[in-house]
Amino acid sequence: MGDAGTGRRVVKAVFPAAGYGTRFLPATKAQPKETLPIVDRPAIQYMVEEAVRAGLDDLLVITGRNKQPIEDHFDRNPELEDVLREKGKHEELEEVVRLAELGVVHYVRQAEQLGLGHAVLQARQHVGEQPFAVLLGDDIIDPHEKFLERMLDVFEETGRPVVAVMPVPDEQVASYGIVTTHPRDGDGLHDVSDLVEKPSPSEAPSNLAIIGRYILTHEVFEVLADTPPGRGGEIQLTDALRTMARDEPIVAVEYTGARHDMGDTLGFLKANVALAADRPDIGERFLGWLEGFLEERRTS
Ligand code: G1P
Repeated sequence: MGDAGTGRRVVKAVFPAAGYGTRFLPATKAQPKETLPIVDRPAIQYMVEEAVRAGLDDLLVITGRNKQPIEDHFDRNPELEDVLREKGKHEELEEVVRLAELGVVHYVRQAEQLGLGHAVLQARQHVGEQPFAVLLGDDIIDPHEKFLERMLDVFEETGRPVVAVMPVPDEQVASYGIVTTHPRDGDGLHDVSDLVEKPSPSEAPSNLAIIGRYILTHEVFEVLADTPPGRGGEIQLTDALRTMARDEPIVAVEYTGARHDMGDTLGFLKANVALAADRPDIGERFLGWLEGFLEERRTS
């Protein structure tokens, strides 16, 4: 790919994880939202494994107060390892060690929660002048789709920031960043000329919503540093991308696979059910139980 290709190779992934998780109180009073379990692993593990699978092994988590359990989860735990070894629990031992070796995990604290754009800005020093991926914790996407890999390919081809989008029903546009797009050559690719954060249905230029995956260039930091608070009084990543898209379109890749939005309790429960059903070890038994449970509810 020559020089351009090398400059477009992405190895860094950023995981904003500093929010209060107020939609999950009281569970999140003393525990980070990102470590709430989906089946038997903390939510953030799904995102980290997705990034690692796509070849990103320099991982930066943007944390805040009360986020120590995230650091512990991706670290070695010698006492636990000793206990597992003594008890002959080899699979469990392998798994806890593997988690500490997924990639190099770095942490930076966001001292004040001033919005997603502000959280991403905290990555500036670590990321330097390299392109990087951002994975938001609310969206779990189907690993079989290899979607992050696809976004990285699109970035290598275009060199422009890439966002993941999906159509949402009109009544949900106010929960997302919404894009104005023009079809681009290639399957499911769009040029984005404008973006608006959480518009009302009447203001929304389309129903294509940004889901939580971005490939960004370092120019976004300079723009974010100058971006005033927007929707909700917060510094919005969407607003910075809007500024960048005015100069040259950014690229949207449409995701069509299964996605679990864990932004609220109902989504969180659905994600647990769907991912439990997909598990080779317990899926069949779980679905058998669920069918019985539903039948009983219907007839009682
Ligand atoms: C954030 C972004 C929004 C995006 C969404 C995807 O919002 O600001 O543009 O559509 O993530 O999950 P949040 O859900 O953090 O309010």
